[in-house]
Amino acid sequence: MIWAILGVGILTILAFAITIVTIDSSQYKRNQKIIQSLTETQKPSNTLVVFFSRSGNTELMAKKIAELEEAHVLPITSNNYNIGFKGWFQSLKDARNTEAEITATTINLKEYDTIYIGSPIWLYSPAPPIFEFVSNNDFTNKKVVLFNSMNSKFEPQYIDEFKNSVEQKGGTFLKHIYIIRGRMTQQMDVNTFLSEVEQKLIN
Ligand SMILES: Cc1cc2nc3c(=O)[nH]c(=O)nc-3n(C[C@H](O)[C@H](O)[C@H](O)COP(=O)(O)O)c2cc1C
Repeated sequence: MIWAILGVGILTILAFAITIVTIDSSQYKRNQKIIQSLTETQKPSNTLVVFFSRSGNTELMAKKIAELEEAHVLPITSNNYNIGFKGWFQSLKDARNTEAEITATTINLKEYDTIYIGSPIWLYSPAPPIFEFVSNNDFTNKKVVLFNSMNSKFEPQYIDEFKNSVEQKGGTFLKHIYIIRGRMTQQMDVNTFLSEVEQKLIN
């Protein structure tokens, strides 16, 4: 009897993980196609959009913000959180960390006065790569806007933690904008997502 219950438990966890990883991967492919249709300015700009994204939702948000604000774009990447089971498991394990192995560690922010910084929400908190990015850079005289994409919920204490880390590096935290996409099986379509980005920037 115990073995049967254990077996059902393990199968349920496995089915859950496979479902999530499959949805992640199909979102990633869909988002990459749409991202290519958004335009990036080649002109000088005093606004920069920095983002970390696993399955492309935050990247979509970043590219739309950049298009609307005529901003430059800087992706933060981390091989530890690639799409697939290994990356998903590692994301879950590290979700609340404020350190991560990233590329684009220290960059010259001299030409920018406003910096948007975005990531997905992992276990109610902005993902570790953007905390790492902030701790490596100097935000003196920079205005910072945090943006996040998520399925359902974040906890304000982790947004405050991010705000504090920006302030410790000399920046001014302007605001937090976010899009709640809905739970796995009932997520908003891409057009609604993109027009929400537009609305959030106006408000
Ligand atoms: C490890 C992990 C933890 C997550 N935790 C949350 C969470 O606490 N709250 C939430 O609303 N969404 C959560 N999500 C969903 C993501 O925030 C959501 O799918 C987001 O849009 C993904 O952005 P991306 O495509 O840029 O990676 C989690 C996703 C992962 C992979």
